[in-house]
Amino acid sequence: MKTQLALPTLLLTFAAMWSAPIHAAEADGRQLVEMPPEARAELRAEMLDFQTALHLIVGALAEQQFATAAEIGETKMGISAMGRHRNAAPNARPGMFMPNDMHAIARSMHTASSDFAKTAKSGDTSKALSSLSAVTGTCVACHRSYRIQ
Ligand code: HEC
Repeated sequence: MKTQLALPTLLLTFAAMWSAPIHAAEADGRQLVEMPPEARAELRAEMLDFQTALHLIVGALAEQQFATAAEIGETKMGISAMGRHRNAAPNARPGMFMPNDMHAIARSMHTASSDFAKTAKSGDTSKALSSLSAVTGTCVACHRSYRIQ
């Protein structure tokens, strides 16, 4: 019964989003975080790097290349990857414009990724994937909560 009701509701929601994308963006529940164009560009560039890193990690795990997966996790997304904008001009530092809760999610992404790197080194695919899902959970948590445009 629940499923029968849910599907049409979902379809209607998607139909509304397609036909009125601007309204969908306004009503999607995410908080708009305003930042200067320079900071937005930096954030998006960093995001693309995270996505590439994640892609390489999944590939490495599939090949049981645990050391490679760990190395990418630590250097590209882990605590070692924090402070990338430290020396940039203030208007190009996305972290300066993040609300505290958003910043906390960003930090937890880095620590989760360092945790993943440690777990991956153990060579247990299942444990590594479980640890990686804690990382992707932070991507989802932030993306479902905040937008910059
Ligand atoms: C602290 C918040 C936060 C975290 C954590 C985060 N993101 Fe993002 N990400 C954003 C925001 C904000 C945007 C821009 C959304 C918008 O367009 O308004 C974004 C956009 C992106 C984009 C699109 C970039 C573009 O060109 O527009 C990709 C890809 C992405 N994120 C990947 C990831 C991945 C993969 C992770 C986890 C490993 C991740 N992000 C973690 C906040 C975050």
